[in-house]
Amino acid sequence: MSNRRTFAIISHPDAGKTTLTEKLLLQGGAIHLAGEVKARGAARRARSDWMKIEQQRGISVTSSVMTFQKDGIVFNLLDTPGHEDFSEDTYRTLTAVDSAVMVIDAAKGIEPQTRKLFEVCRLRSVPIITFVNKVDREGRDPFETLDEVADMLALDVSPQMWPIGMGGEFEGILDFATDTVARPDGPSREYLGTRDTAAIPQRFMDEIELARGGYPEFDIEAFRHGDLTPVYFGSALKNFGVTELIDAIARFAPPPRPQPAGEEEISPERDEVTGFIFKVQANMDPNHRDRIAFMRQVSGTFKRGMKLTPSGLGKPIAVHSPILFFAQDRELADTAEAGDIIGIPNHGTLRVGDTLSERNQVRFTGLPNFAPEILRRVQLKDPTKTKQLRKALDDLSEEGVIQVFYPEIGSAHIVGVVGQLQLEVLISRLEAEYKVEAGLEPSPFATARWIKGDAKALDDFAGFNRPNLARDRDGDYVFMAKSPWDVSYQVEKNPELTFSATKER
Ligand code: G4P
Repeated sequence: MSNRRTFAIISHPDAGKTTLTEKLLLQGGAIHLAGEVKARGAARRARSDWMKIEQQRGISVTSSVMTFQKDGIVFNLLDTPGHEDFSEDTYRTLTAVDSAVMVIDAAKGIEPQTRKLFEVCRLRSVPIITFVNKVDREGRDPFETLDEVADMLALDVSPQMWPIGMGGEFEGILDFATDTVARPDGPSREYLGTRDTAAIPQRFMDEIELARGGYPEFDIEAFRHGDLTPVYFGSALKNFGVTELIDAIARFAPPPRPQPAGEEEISPERDEVTGFIFKVQANMDPNHRDRIAFMRQVSGTFKRGMKLTPSGLGKPIAVHSPILFFAQDRELADTAEAGDIIGIPNHGTLRVGDTLSERNQVRFTGLPNFAPEILRRVQLKDPTKTKQLRKALDDLSEEGVIQVFYPEIGSAHIVGVVGQLQLEVLISRLEAEYKVEAGLEPSPFATARWIKGDAKALDDFAGFNRPNLARDRDGDYVFMAKSPWDVSYQVEKNPELTFSATKER
């Protein structure tokens, strides 16, 4: 069976994703990267081939994929940018993983971004391991946190460990599997050093009994279907619970899963290299038009120099200088397996959603567009450039940078994104690559839904709602909604239509 575990961390900013990532890399032997995850300095860029690629092209790919190894398992950790970088890439990255670790701040519980990312995981039933972080600080009652996860996310929770006190009272973490307590370093307490449960004060024992009895047993089938989450407690900062978390990923998280390709599923055992592009990172330097396309390998054994056919191109390309993210070597590795990520430098030939394969027979599906959460009108500074603008918007939406909508009434193009940064990328690329100067104006719309139904129902709907109707770049109908309420209203009023928040690319 495959020794790959390809996963992402989902969290709200400040919950501790960066700190946890560093600790995972440290334990996994990728020591040179630990402490440098956030660093942008020259030191980090220096050495390997792929780091040179970054330096020459001004593309930061290092932290997009981090690979480490422990006890014979190879972990591929895919970064899901948060903060100001939040974009559709963040969502699409989750289509390239087999599992996710959800980091929750013990004091704050489920926060909005965690919830959004969780919903994307749920679309594909991605199994989730929960890590309640910062138990070394004053936090909420752990029962409250677990109940919140269960209620808000409609997920069964199964604690695998339990914090003994929190903040000033924090005494360590009891591992249910081994019945041992990992204790904090620092000033000695009366029972520091003992490793059994006998020394735990009675009031904590009562709580622990409740925790052990009050939740469902861990069930690997339910976990792998995305119905149950095992919960770990810890402190990324103090390196508590991190080993247990890695072990849980190794033991429970699924190895590379078969991927949907229309009617069939492509198994990781297929004797052919196949994969799909889930992200394209463009160079922001206008003198270079290079891009790195990130391919999630689905099957086969990839070798450097191999010829693969991108579905969007139809003829094979030789992949001579792939970027393989093997942290230990910091070299261009020569092979990659199902579950691994390969960075492929190209000049715009590879697009998000493309399938790459040796025999050009497979087409992966399940890489959707996500309903935008920010919609803007594009305002052209030079009106003679309408044609160029349309070409640029079509190109950039095909590449996955933005989505474009053409309203049924009026001539302004509307662009949609899930994160602010995408808009900045749009404006700068329009200028640098298409010589189109444009600005963005507010639009009355807050989100969009793809509408499906039979022709008559669609026509009837269109008749009444033309001012709120647009077409996407494929010509499909999209309902432009002024608010989430607007969406629920139309859903209720038009039971014969479906309003979808995602669209298959
Ligand atoms: P993020 O990537 O999810 O945004 O979070 P990050 O790891 O940057 O952590 C956010 C803040 O929370 C940091 O403090 C970090 O040190 C702290 N933190 C992370 N894990 C733990 C933990 O287990 N316990 C405690 N007590 N704190 C934790 P900061 O002061 O904002 O930044 P820094 O200056 O310390 O880096």
